[in-house]
Amino acid sequence: MRTQVGIVGAGPAGLLLSQLLALHGIDSVVVDDRSQEHIVARARAGVLEHGSAELLRRAGLGARMDREGIVHGGIYLQYDGVREHLDFRDLAGGRTVMVYAQTEVVKDLVAARLAAGANLVFEVRDTEVDELTSDHPVLRYTTPDGVRHDVVCDVIAGCDGFHGVSRPSIPDRALTIFDRTYPYAWLGILARVPPSTDELIYAYHRDGFALHSLRGPEVSRLYLQVAPDEQLSAWPDERIWTELRRRFALPGWELADGPIFDRSVTPMRSFVASPMRYGRLFLAGDAAHIVPPTGAKGLNLAVADVAVLAEALVALLRDGNPDLADAYSDNCLRRVWRATHFSWWMTSMLHRAPDGDEMREQLQLSQLRYTTSSRAAATTLAENYVGYPPLDLGGLDLPAD
Ligand code: PHB
Repeated sequence: MRTQVGIVGAGPAGLLLSQLLALHGIDSVVVDDRSQEHIVARARAGVLEHGSAELLRRAGLGARMDREGIVHGGIYLQYDGVREHLDFRDLAGGRTVMVYAQTEVVKDLVAARLAAGANLVFEVRDTEVDELTSDHPVLRYTTPDGVRHDVVCDVIAGCDGFHGVSRPSIPDRALTIFDRTYPYAWLGILARVPPSTDELIYAYHRDGFALHSLRGPEVSRLYLQVAPDEQLSAWPDERIWTELRRRFALPGWELADGPIFDRSVTPMRSFVASPMRYGRLFLAGDAAHIVPPTGAKGLNLAVADVAVLAEALVALLRDGNPDLADAYSDNCLRRVWRATHFSWWMTSMLHRAPDGDEMREQLQLSQLRYTTSSRAAATTLAENYVGYPPLDLGGLDLPAD
């Protein structure tokens, strides 16, 4: 079999890349070792930067997002008995974010790709990427009927996440790895209860960080800082709500509770693999980098990577121009490092360090007060949160919104 771009991974990065390439007349095959049901069911991130939402719209994926997503013009930062609002519209030149769950983005992508007759293959086994330094890398996989497939490609895109096969297929000597784990994790829940807030609340508390997000008028998404090895069984519903109420407590405000229908513990890590290319294998999204969720950047970095990659592959495969493909890694890594710093900074400011002392706590509180009182500091948070640098979609030939 033959295709132009073999895509490993049917998450947001792989599916969006396949969609963007198809809009430019480039064909691809997308394979994933998980089932279609699994891919659309996982509870993941929820915040789309201004530029990510704009790209999805221009890629023909905006209809349900614009109906069901919720535009947020800011966030609250809470600490030391105060809850301060940061107004992104005012601070970041009118730009906002869209609260729309990653699972919904993936559902929309799968529907759009299948409607266009795309080649999406789920539940494959023994995926391999090979001959990466030749002009024709090969994507190999076994379908559930036991048949082994060899797909000869012009390029392979590794969009298969942190634990995928793509990155480990690159020789160790060709990659520099930057890796940091944090001494805490997030316990996340989905609850059937209207949100108790109009915009996200990021709360610093001596007992640990808490975040109030949402998924729509009837569903709240909440997170608690816990130990990295925390067992879900130690957290019956009442303990979760008691702890959330304690960390968000504010005179005159109440947290409404409701039935919890999804829960998980997410470890926190900062990870960057550099460069994001080896021969004709290009890494995108979590396959190349992981950020802690505090800055809401993971999904947005994946979207930005594939916007840059799609433009580069169109130039390479349609026009025979390798310049953008050669610049792909450097172009992406500038944004990746900005988001890595921002996510580390938000994480460090808002979490309770298990080994932290009084000095560290006072430094965090001072940073929170500064961020919510100085326009310069608030602007720094706002412009990073809505997306920095702003995503440049000018090089992609997509219909205007
Ligand atoms: C979410 O809604 O899941 C969410 C929101 C903001 C974050 C992380 C996760 O920083």
